This record gives sequence, C-alpha cells and structure tokens, in this order.
Amino acid sequence: MPGRREGGSGPEAYDATPYLPQRGGLPAHRRAAADCQGCPLYREATGTVFGRGDSGARVMLIGEQPGDQEDREGVAFVGPAGRLLSKALREAGIDEEGLYVTNAVKHFKFTVDETRKRRIHKAPSLRETLACRPWLMAELRLVSPEFVIVLGATAGRALLGSSFRVGTDRGVPRPLPGVEDGTQVLATVHPSAVLRSKDRDAAYAGLVADLRTAAEAL
Ligand code: URA
Ligand code: SF4
Repeated sequence: MPGRREGGSGPEAYDATPYLPQRGGLPAHRRAAADCQGCPLYREATGTVFGRGDSGARVMLIGEQPGDQEDREGVAFVGPAGRLLSKALREAGIDEEGLYVTNAVKHFKFTVDETRKRRIHKAPSLRETLACRPWLMAELRLVSPEFVIVLGATAGRALLGSSFRVGTDRGVPRPLPGVEDGTQVLATVHPSAVLRSKDRDAAYAGLVADLRTAAEAL
C-alpha cells in the first residue's frame, strides 16, 4: 500500500486502522466509522460522512471530503458540488441510482471565516488522506465495483499514489493497481474545481466528457 506509514509511527500516528471492525459489511463499517479518531479531523467536524448508495454497485465514485452541507447532513455529495455532479452524470448517461458514492476523507476539514460566519473548505493533507485510507479500502473491498471514478487530486492520491496529477492522469480508463480482478479506474476533475473554475463551461464539459468515457467503458 503506497505510503501507509507516511502517517508516522508512535503515539502521534494518524491511522484509522484501529477503528475498523474485524468483520461485517458496509453497515458495520459505517457504524464504526462514526467513532473514528484516526486523525484530528473528527474534532472539529460534526460527524463522519461515510459512503452512500448501492452496496452491489458496479460503479464507485470517490470525492475528496464532505463539504459544509455534507457535514451538517451526514450524507456525501448533497451540496453544490453534488448537484453539479448529478447533472454531469445524467448528461453522461450514468444512472446515479446504481452508484456507490464516497469520499477519500470522511470528515470535513475547514477554517472559519469569523467576519462572514462561514466555514471554508480546507484541503486535507496527504497524512490525513492516508490515515483515512483504510475506510476507503474497506468500501472498495465490500462494494467490489467493476469501475471506479476518481474525482480530483485527493481521491487520486488516495487510490493511485502520491504522484497522481489530475492534469496528466485524467480521462483514460486503466486497470486499478493492486487488484487482479479487472477493476478499471478513471480519474477526472472534482466538481468543486469546476465550480471554482474561471471557465466553468469548459471545465464542466471536460467533466462530462470524462464521465462519458467511463460510461462507454462500462
Ligand atoms: N466534495 C466532495 O468531495 N465530497 C462531498 O461529499 C462534497 C463535496
Ligand atoms: Fe477517522 Fe478519516 Fe475522520 Fe480522520 S478523517 S478521524 S481517519 S474518519
């Protein structure tokens, strides 16, 4: 597993492993993840946002971390990025009903804008991402999808290693490293990056084009 030990060792190690159940399916993992203290992100967030969707899904989508709204509701991709993603999936001909949707990191990381009383998204560090990786690996094992769609750099680094770059690695289906069962993976931009983009139309078109490539490869 790439870089698992980068979380460090000793009492300061960031690692979700001790919180994972020894057995059980997605519901058992979801319950256990609610109590995870594998890295400091649980302290400020409202709660763990585990994956959602069909445990028998053929396709799994992986985002970065819950946003402000996801943190309040406890459900992945229900905010602005989720709405954009739903629209893009529809346009690409991918049925959201049959998907499993999760995030590389299960707690919301943010800073507080005191003047505007808003919580501002902050990208998780590689250390936090690797700490949370055991949950993602468990979801992958339990859902066992045929196709994985990686949304953005954080999910890409979690799944494909720390040298992952969206710009060079996007849009091309390839075998998922480390598994022998023919699972394919395709990376694309994160829907939040589309929302932040100066040329939002072009960024959105790129996202839809990549999702279409995934749809064709399915
Ligand atoms: N961005 C993500 O990566 N995941 C969410 O659930 C919401 C926003
Ligand atoms: Fe555990 Fe992940 Fe939350 Fe860190 S972000 S406390 S590893 S669930």
